[in-house]
Amino acid sequence: MDLEIKSKIAELSDKIKGLDITQAIRLLSDTFAGKAVFSTSFSLEDQVISHAILENKIPVDIFTLDTGRIFPETYSVWNSTNQRYQTQIKAFTADYKTLQDYLTEKGPNAFYESVENRKQCCHIRKVEPLKRALKGQQLWVTGLRAEHSAARQDLQMLEWDEGHQLIKFHPILHWTTEEVREFVTKNNIPYNTLQDKGFVSLGCAPCTRAIKPGEDFRAGRWWWEDDSKKECGLHEHAAGNK
Ligand code: ADX
Ligand code: SF4
Repeated sequence: MDLEIKSKIAELSDKIKGLDITQAIRLLSDTFAGKAVFSTSFSLEDQVISHAILENKIPVDIFTLDTGRIFPETYSVWNSTNQRYQTQIKAFTADYKTLQDYLTEKGPNAFYESVENRKQCCHIRKVEPLKRALKGQQLWVTGLRAEHSAARQDLQMLEWDEGHQLIKFHPILHWTTEEVREFVTKNNIPYNTLQDKGFVSLGCAPCTRAIKPGEDFRAGRWWWEDDSKKECGLHEHAAGNK
């Protein structure tokens, strides 16, 4: 990260101190006018941010990476979000040819067979489409929360993403689960019913299971793998560059 970016991030971090979520997103969307986007997976966290953007008509484009393997419940939240806010969340999907070849060669459930296959699937369905979605952007808003993993506890609300060459902003990084739930209830925001059934970290259906009370937040993701490998490549920095 060069000095100019470092001081820009320090300056913006100062400016958003004490602001609420809406004020902070508005300030940054003004700063990066037309070059700020938010990625949603329709989790509780992401619904909070979508609400702040859409209810207040902040000009930040919202997109989702439709992996083709998400839960039917997630498609329902996508649909009700479009309806509730009269919007059209933008979809990014895998490159069809690459996906066709992968499925033909390895079959539909190859991610259970090796970490390599799993990472390849995540790359095709998430990482590459994300790269396309972020092309030319300057600010990427996410719903990452510190409580979700040890690696995420070291994040700053504003940080430089070397891989995508832009600034990432995590507006609810330090919110607790209770605060997220309260916000969703208070504002009557559509949310995924799986979140009431032990699914705290929601990803693709074949790779996500519910967790028991007391279990680590991310225990339900790729549960058959080592803890050290549990990131899909969307957030390299958040994974401690694992
Ligand atoms: S992941 O790295 O394990 O997949 P996680 O589910 O914790 O991520 O979500 C963290 C943030 O990554 C979300 O708040 C959202 O901004 C982004 N994200 C995750 N999955 C998607 C998706 N399918 N589409 C768009 N954004 C996503
Ligand atoms: Fe493929 Fe599972 Fe990654 Fe989804 S989470 S892209 S199904 S390996």
